[in-house]
Amino acid sequence: MEQKILIIDDDKIMRVTLEDALKAQGFSVLACENGNDGMESFGEGEFALVITDVRLPDMNGLDILKLMRDKEGEILVIVMTAFGTIKDAVEAMKIGAFDYLTKPFSLDEFIYTVKRALEVKTLKEENIRLRRDLSDCYSYPNIIGESAAIMKIFKMIDKVVLTDSTVLILGENGTGKELIATTIHYQSKRRNQPMIKVNCAAFPEHLVESELFGYEKGAFTGAAQRKPGRFERADKGSIFLDEIGDLPLSVQVKLLRVLQDGSLERLGGTEEMKVDVRVIAATNRNLEEEMKEGRFREDLYYRLNVIPVHMPSLKERNEDVPLLIDHFLGIYNCRFGKRIAISSDAVAALMGYDFPGNIRELGNIVERCVTLSTDETITPDELPPHILKKQEGQPAAVTLNEVSADAEKAHIIRILKSTRVNKTKAAELLGISRKSLWEKIKAYGIES
Ligand SMILES: Nc1ncnc2c1ncn2[C@@H]1O[C@H](COP(=O)(O)OP(=O)(O)OP(=O)(O)O)[C@@H](O)[C@H]1O
Ligand SMILES: [Mg+2]
Repeated sequence: MEQKILIIDDDKIMRVTLEDALKAQGFSVLACENGNDGMESFGEGEFALVITDVRLPDMNGLDILKLMRDKEGEILVIVMTAFGTIKDAVEAMKIGAFDYLTKPFSLDEFIYTVKRALEVKTLKEENIRLRRDLSDCYSYPNIIGESAAIMKIFKMIDKVVLTDSTVLILGENGTGKELIATTIHYQSKRRNQPMIKVNCAAFPEHLVESELFGYEKGAFTGAAQRKPGRFERADKGSIFLDEIGDLPLSVQVKLLRVLQDGSLERLGGTEEMKVDVRVIAATNRNLEEEMKEGRFREDLYYRLNVIPVHMPSLKERNEDVPLLIDHFLGIYNCRFGKRIAISSDAVAALMGYDFPGNIRELGNIVERCVTLSTDETITPDELPPHILKKQEGQPAAVTLNEVSADAEKAHIIRILKSTRVNKTKAAELLGISRKSLWEKIKAYGIES
């Protein structure tokens, strides 16, 4: 579609020259000679860009800019100022002009500035569209579950997205901590700003600090140029500090400061910076335990723990297993171009399993079954053997002690029966004293 540009300039030669130059580039142009006409035309058409002179007979170009912004919000404006009036240019940029051109300028310069402005506009729109798509992905329909436990989480998110408060997400591996963190960002009013993710456990201790806070040129060997940290990149948006329990103590103090008043310094820097970042942290560690052990600062814990969100384990929301199976079947059937279903006894077998790896483990199991399955329905014998074991009545994890205790109890009962509960005889046959037999009978709860 042809892009429309509005020019406002009282200088006729200038107006016509610019109009012709833009038309030659394939733009549709409307040129006005004063502010009133300009504002009127602006109200009538959808312009991709407005180019206005500052000094107009009836109005000031800066007022035009303000009026247009009031009307349209985001509007792309390039201001033309006379030579020597840099103050106007600065003022124009302050109130939201995209760029300015100082007269006299060449037509090349003019066209270049116009094209660049339109390019940035397209990129911005594209970005907003992409972000909008992302916020669709991270909406509740993509968080599967109808159990009371997950409903509680939904309710929590509803409240949390309206605030800027720090959120601490706790829960076992694979319970969906990152999914919830991402959802919070994309449902919050910061959704069109960046969400930066940092896995605190993924960096060696000496690198975490520079990753988070950035560094100045020469801050350490190898710091060839200044690098902004992740907090700076997350400005106006959110930062997701994953595995916060693994953050080295030395960095915890600095984090505390950002949480307190949004201030930080780059490594090797002296200048204090302010950032406006919403912090969402997650860990599968028990932070209270970490505090007791002296590995996590108490003050940081309380700053982080403003809104704690406890992700339930899959065991605590067993009734969601069938829903999640369906969800993952949909994903992997689509990915592998298959149409595989699952039998009800296979679902039952999965419901009887504990899922130490929670939803991630369930997702992996379904992926594996869909990939390997040769017929249309997944049956129990296609599930990984460790899941079936439990189904067949073989305890998944029994210690050697438990096994020998069971055997001992069974043997004592057998001997007692064979001696018609003659404890002296039984003790003799078992090779133990009467007293220890009596203790074992009590301990195992054997009725005699
Ligand atoms: N309720 C849910 N509905 C659908 N998919 C989910 C749900 N919860 C988690 N998942 C999926 O399970 C996988 C693991 O989730 P996620 O990475 O958010 O867990 P985590 O708690 O951060 O795990 P870890 O502690 O191992 O880092 C992801 O693929 C995620 O999309
Ligand atoms: Mg995670």
